[in-house]
Amino acid sequence: MPQKSPRILVLNGPNLNMLGKREPEIYGSATLEDLRTLCESEGEKLGLSIDFRQTNHEGELIEWIQQTRHDAEGGGADGIVLNAAALTHTSVGLYDALMAAQTPMVEVHLSNIHAREAFRAHSYVSRAALGVLCGFGPVGYAFALKALSDHLETR
Ligand code: DQA
Repeated sequence: MPQKSPRILVLNGPNLNMLGKREPEIYGSATLEDLRTLCESEGEKLGLSIDFRQTNHEGELIEWIQQTRHDAEGGGADGIVLNAAALTHTSVGLYDALMAAQTPMVEVHLSNIHAREAFRAHSYVSRAALGVLCGFGPVGYAFALKALSDHLETR
């Protein structure tokens, strides 16, 4: 019997809806829709079912993470690729939601957060991550999906 594709949520936080227009010298010219297309085509190659979302609201992101639990309504998810954007550096609530969900998560950032303002170097969500990718632009999302796929295959 063919195995069901692992379900992966790709979650994007505040201001990432502005990609393409927002500080292109830092974030590049790709739009959020370009990132969606990249993730969907990478997901197809890796045999993953991709659910790509963006929100500007912390509570919504927390609810989406809670819903990844397999005992949650809606059936859960097998993994998360998370670009929490500014909430990375501020949100204990997001960290708590990740710890409560215990869903394998890879943290991703388009820019190299360690080569920017000092306040960006600390991430609350890294403690809950399998690993962190930053500074590679959009292809970092594809690397994150590959890392998650390898993790799910080998655990
Ligand atoms: C970001 C980096 C964050 O510091 C910033 O607040 C963002 C985007 C990135 O993808 O490089 O909004 O997560």
